[in-house]
Amino acid sequence: MNERTARIGLSLGADICWPICYETLLEELKLDLDIDGTRTRFECERITIEPFSLRQPVKYDVVIDRLTHWYSTSREWIKKAILLNDLYVYNNPWSLQSNEKQTSYAAMMRLGLPVPETWMLPPKSYEASDDLEATLRQYARMFSLEDIGNRIGYPFFMKPYHGGGWKGVTKIDDLAGFQNAYDASGTEIMNLQEAILPHDWFVRCVGLGPQMRKVNYDPSAPLHDRYRMDVDFLGEDDQSVLEDMTLTINSFFGWDFNSCESLKRDGIWHPIDFANACPDSQVTSLHYHFPWLIKSNLRWSIFCAATDRPMRRNMDWAPFYDIADRDIGPRERLREYAAIAHQRFETEKFRDFCRSHLGHLDELAYAFFGSGAMRDAIYRKVASLFPEHEIDEFTELFWNRVQLWRAQEGAQGDPDGF
Ligand SMILES: Nc1ncnc2c1ncn2[C@@H]1O[C@H](COP(=O)(O)OP(=O)(O)O)[C@@H](O)[C@H]1O
Ligand SMILES: [Mg+2]
Repeated sequence: MNERTARIGLSLGADICWPICYETLLEELKLDLDIDGTRTRFECERITIEPFSLRQPVKYDVVIDRLTHWYSTSREWIKKAILLNDLYVYNNPWSLQSNEKQTSYAAMMRLGLPVPETWMLPPKSYEASDDLEATLRQYARMFSLEDIGNRIGYPFFMKPYHGGGWKGVTKIDDLAGFQNAYDASGTEIMNLQEAILPHDWFVRCVGLGPQMRKVNYDPSAPLHDRYRMDVDFLGEDDQSVLEDMTLTINSFFGWDFNSCESLKRDGIWHPIDFANACPDSQVTSLHYHFPWLIKSNLRWSIFCAATDRPMRRNMDWAPFYDIADRDIGPRERLREYAAIAHQRFETEKFRDFCRSHLGHLDELAYAFFGSGAMRDAIYRKVASLFPEHEIDEFTELFWNRVQLWRAQEGAQGDPDGF
């Protein structure tokens, strides 16, 4: 029998907890698989940052990347590795510009998703550059905040068009607030977006390949409480709309790992924030949902490495546009987009793969998430974020939430059946 070692690289930044869990469980799985007659084993390694020749071979089959969105050397190494060395990486680095909120809004509006009314404003001030003066003098039109505010209607949200971790987001209730926020926005280019307020639900749907988790989300809670711990809070119809929406977005942009925030008002789910280049993966925010993330990440990366999943090097949007232009209702259209997503994510093949090769993951994960090693991983993450006098208290809090997951879900396998 042919033999092969499939290599998974972790391209990491400040991540502490999830790589520890990922590495430990990958080792404990002791995978030794027959993949189409090739005996396949797995190794995983943290990728270091160093000079490289463009001709230097790449030893990884799959890279789980957390740096592309902000660290250029790693992004360029990854792009060259895709182009020259057939690397598979999540997420597609050429989608980086689509990680700008405004681009993702535009694309999903074109596909007919109910993105709230959204505007863009030229910035309040500019960095100096050679042609700036001449350009603005000739072409920049005066505008009235009052008119724009009235057209969108209050309240609305002002937020940087490229997005990013809640920075610079303001709820605008009236003209005076609009004026103040705009005056304070400096060189930042802002989107204005109709507020979906009040809403019945705020859900963050996290997608990892075709695996989806719908989390009840409370943006007004402190960071460690935003991901709520209720499960089964949505009916099947709501769940399937959110899944299909997230599948559509993620497959459209080539994102293996992304989360989609949607608000439900008057029976309609409005997506408002769904371009997350580096989705939250920390136990300190995911806590109860953290084991799902680790298991899903293992399943998807192992599948990609084992099956030599080819990287889709370009976005290939035409099939989505074809569906968008057909005369069908919104739910049916969304289903058709999701069908493309399932094809691109190879959902059925993935499901079979998990069934044939990863059946023992549930049991191993159940044990690991109750182990001293897990507690230590939580401690290390907490110690990096919290003040000294809160470390024990928060370690305990997150540990208890992971134990709650074990008690409620851990023994049964994941609800979406992978
Ligand atoms: N259109 C909207 N309707 C209601 N709330 C919104 C809207 N846009 C933003 N928000 C609120 O502002 C928060 C931050 O905005 P978001 O678009 O998620 O940007 P970020 O990339 O910073 O997370 C959201 O979690 C939500 O609470
Ligand atoms: Mg957000």
